[in-house]
Amino acid sequence: MHAKKTKKVLVLLGEKNISIVQEILDVIYKLALKYNIKAYLVGGPVRDFLMAQEKNFKIFKDLDIALTGYYQEIGNELASVLKARPIFYPRFMTMTISLSDFRVDIAQTRKEIYPQPAVLPQVFPATIEEDLKRRDFTINAMAIPLTEEFIKNTEAQVLDPLGGQTDIKDKLIRILHPKSFIDDPTRIFRALRFASRLGFKLEETTAQLMQDAIHKSYLTLLSGERVFYELEMICKEKNALKILAELQERKVIKKLYKTQLPQDFFLYASKLSNDEKLVYLFSFFADKHYKHYPLKKEFILVVRELQKSSELTRKLKKIKRRSTIYFLLKPYHLNTLNILKKITHGSVRKKIVNYLTKLKDTKIHTTGQTLKRYNIAPGPSYHKILNKILAYKLDGKIKTPKDEERYLNKLLGR
Ligand code: CTP
Repeated sequence: MHAKKTKKVLVLLGEKNISIVQEILDVIYKLALKYNIKAYLVGGPVRDFLMAQEKNFKIFKDLDIALTGYYQEIGNELASVLKARPIFYPRFMTMTISLSDFRVDIAQTRKEIYPQPAVLPQVFPATIEEDLKRRDFTINAMAIPLTEEFIKNTEAQVLDPLGGQTDIKDKLIRILHPKSFIDDPTRIFRALRFASRLGFKLEETTAQLMQDAIHKSYLTLLSGERVFYELEMICKEKNALKILAELQERKVIKKLYKTQLPQDFFLYASKLSNDEKLVYLFSFFADKHYKHYPLKKEFILVVRELQKSSELTRKLKKIKRRSTIYFLLKPYHLNTLNILKKITHGSVRKKIVNYLTKLKDTKIHTTGQTLKRYNIAPGPSYHKILNKILAYKLDGKIKTPKDEERYLNKLLGR
């Protein structure tokens, strides 16, 4: 790509403008010619392209590219054109280039062998046909060869050896072989996620095999990281709660967490953001079922606080004084309080909102330095005195720095 064109790509980065997608495809196409290999658009983008009313490049959320060779060399060259840092996953023969709100995944066409159920597969270079056969559902198992006609005019010759287009027409999610859910039980989550997002049904045998895999507990063989990722993806969907309700109905929640979500979970969760839904969901699960998950400390903290929140709301109901509310809520993580604000009501809610919007930012002028000037020996008494002044201010008993000084003198008996 010559300098002028490179500049154009960079100017458009992040805007997910049609022309940047088109240009990225064009760069990959030309690199494929240079290395004398074949390049294909595969997976989700092909599905979304075929389902789109208007066939243009704007519909691509990400690009998923399969190459019959040289994925590292081509990945590196593309990354340098895009001035982005590539991340390689040699074990899976894939690489990723992340732009501000767009991702290009590049992979060697490959086949997979699952040494045991639910573990990540071993991968070997293979043809595009074999690559399509290893995938999850027919609708995700199609490829569009990168050609000039496609890049210029979006005229696609679709490689569809497994009947993806028919299943799109019939609105069906269909696995490619009977062991699919056993090899990779994350496909149980994926099937429900795509069905809900696209308004598709599970094809009959697929639905039976899915229930069978759930019943035989294959899900419990998955690593915590993979289960968590799937739940995270589900919470990002528009229909997240419908999918979670399906997981409950199909006994996925029961298998993994030995519990049932209460009906009001769905009511309250509907008021929360995606991230909040996920953490709220986990607050219904006993720690022992996810203690092996690689979760962030903050996430676990918020879950624990939510688990104990009925005690907090009981206390909140009883108190009135602003300083008491302040010191009760102060130890809590803001994410916890933001969730509680949305799922409580009445006076409890009002108090949390008041804390979040006003009380928590209350500042006093008196500092440790002030106390030093008063010749008070540094120690735990500092904290006590400062909190007393803050409490007085919160309760409206003092307002100005002068008031603080007067109160401090009174406290010290001077
Ligand atoms: N895939 C698979 N089995 C999985 C995960 C992924 O076969 N467990 C294949 C599918 O062909 C899928 C592709 O890898 O289309 C890319 O995976 P991913 O990015 O997760 O799915 P998308 O179809 O792109 O979904 P989305 O629209 O949510 O990005």
